[in-house]
Amino acid sequence: MRLDKYLADAGKGTRSTVKSHIAAGRVRVDGTVIKRPEHKVPADAVVTLDDEAVSAETFQYFLLNKPAGVVSATRDAREKTVLDLLDCDKRRDLFPVGRLDKDTEGLLVITNDGKMSKDLLKPGKHVAKCYYVEADGELPDDAARQFAEGFDIGDERPTAPAELSEGEKEGSWYLTITEGRFHQVKRMFEHFGCHVTYLKRISMGGLTLPEDLKPGAYRKMTEEEIKLLTERG
Ligand code: URA
Repeated sequence: MRLDKYLADAGKGTRSTVKSHIAAGRVRVDGTVIKRPEHKVPADAVVTLDDEAVSAETFQYFLLNKPAGVVSATRDAREKTVLDLLDCDKRRDLFPVGRLDKDTEGLLVITNDGKMSKDLLKPGKHVAKCYYVEADGELPDDAARQFAEGFDIGDERPTAPAELSEGEKEGSWYLTITEGRFHQVKRMFEHFGCHVTYLKRISMGGLTLPEDLKPGAYRKMTEEEIKLLTERG
């Protein structure tokens, strides 16, 4: 990362303020005064301002509206990954929190905060996730009750209680689940002979996909949004 960005990210001022600190010779990288704001700071470097250590942002949190056609992986030999969509200064240790299928769109958090990710995905303690679903076929009249009670989709255990409600459009639904099984939403609909034709995650815990974030777009999460995910009961 560039030295001026490193300092700005660490809260040492705006890009122009930190540039003047750098020009004034107040900044050292591994003990050497550096006067070029574009100097690349190695990942393990010790940076000081007025001889005081500066720690760069430890964690990064991005909120991505995953488009269809990219895989939820950090790297892939053939497919475009969600990390390929982040066209910004980013840490190398970022990963998506959980997975969405290649053809699924919607809210995906990308971070390097392993603890947060683990807490959100803990088996049996999964945070609620709401999906917008379009599906072919007819669900039975008592589908909401069946989703609420849980049913067998061929795994060891029946599904945990899930909440189903009708969407605005014919054949569309909102489904909230608290687990993260492989192809879970699609398999729950398949249980009733319904084929999911479009799937989009619209919320995760208290975090909702912003309406102005188009598929493929992303932004840094705000402090409030980070708190929503990290400070859950
Ligand atoms: N359930 C699915 O079937 N697919 C997803 O991508 C997410 C949940």
